[in-house]
Amino acid sequence: MKFNPANTIQDLQYFGEFGGVNPSISDSSTYTFLSAKTMFDTFEGDADGCYLYSRHTSPSNLYLGEALAAMEGTETANVSASGMGAITPVLLQLCQSGDHIVSSRTIYGGTYAFLKNFTPRFNIETSFVDITKLDVVEAAITPNTKVLYCESVSNPLLEVANIAGLARIAKKYNLQLVVDNTFSPLSISPAKLGADVVIHSLTKFINGSSDTVGGVVCGTQAFIDQLRNVNDGASMLLGSTMDSLRAASVLKNLRTLHIRMKQHSHNAAYLAKKFEEDGLKTVYPGLTSHPSHELFKSMMNSAYGFGGMLTIDVGNIDKANELMELMQERNLGYLAVSLGFYKTLFSAPGTSTSSEIPEDEQAEMGLTDGLIRFSIGLDDDIERTYTIMRACMRELNILQPALV
Ligand SMILES: Cc1ncc(COP(=O)(O)O)c(C=O)c1O
Repeated sequence: MKFNPANTIQDLQYFGEFGGVNPSISDSSTYTFLSAKTMFDTFEGDADGCYLYSRHTSPSNLYLGEALAAMEGTETANVSASGMGAITPVLLQLCQSGDHIVSSRTIYGGTYAFLKNFTPRFNIETSFVDITKLDVVEAAITPNTKVLYCESVSNPLLEVANIAGLARIAKKYNLQLVVDNTFSPLSISPAKLGADVVIHSLTKFINGSSDTVGGVVCGTQAFIDQLRNVNDGASMLLGSTMDSLRAASVLKNLRTLHIRMKQHSHNAAYLAKKFEEDGLKTVYPGLTSHPSHELFKSMMNSAYGFGGMLTIDVGNIDKANELMELMQERNLGYLAVSLGFYKTLFSAPGTSTSSEIPEDEQAEMGLTDGLIRFSIGLDDDIERTYTIMRACMRELNILQPALV
């Protein structure tokens, strides 16, 4: 039967301590043991079902982790205080001094900065490549390579990774394929396509209300155990732990993710089509003009669409700024970074979320300064939204003013 991530979330049945329909929140940082021997066994990692200390695990975090593992079809998962709090321990767990990473060159600016500026301090080097070219990826592998890293749909250029193709390369060279699936929850299931580790920034679509940061690592039990190991686990020792109260609230939001993703995708597809017809340079994986449209189609769980993210290029940064300010003034959304909110968010990535990437490298990867990244909201009447957006563009001469 075809994997449906929304069904696996739906089928989770949790009860609260007193029969509540939501699981009880574990409001404790530490846990008692009835016997000293059990405490010892728990430290050794041999006492299933016992809790030690909430930086290690807590019942609320395990509930959320279990739900996200069900969504991604992995054995288990570990939640963290932010997306970066998931990404950085994974890479530090998988790589030692002297190791090498092959990464997509179009990735979230923070991840790029970590790989470009931070991990070299530990003698971990990264080659940044065009992830859409499998031959280029393979050619970048060295005897020291340990990890292939990419985003399913990249931030901000919306390049699409061929996950099954990358998984074949990873297997051939005995590498771990790590995929950040933040832009395409439910639509793409990287583990089902062969990824070893799947990461999300929960801050975005999964939580969906822009009221917290959070992250998750989905993978095998063995890998998650390594991350949590009290002696050398990067998640345990770097300490980026999610708070239990927050884990409980993210879990409740996760329960409506399938409905939200359908609406985000529906609205983004509508706007992308209209913008393209208007003659704007538009990038959206759902458009047939997207170079990886067919690839996305071949990988996707089709009910959830091509996602809520699109970009347009309005020529230069001044026009981009004018348009974003006007759209905010007209209440079409917010001039803000991040994504996955119920209202539309827009920003110019070259000067914001990707500003960590030097200008010459931005130019090389096609990140122009007139690019606006949209995270399309849950608007009920997207035609109305489009009409107001088009009026803003006409007012600023981005589109030809109406003839009548
Ligand atoms: C694709 C992607 N991965 C990871 C992150 C980092 O997540 P967080 O801000 O939750 O640390 C972001 C944030 O923008 C992102 O867009």
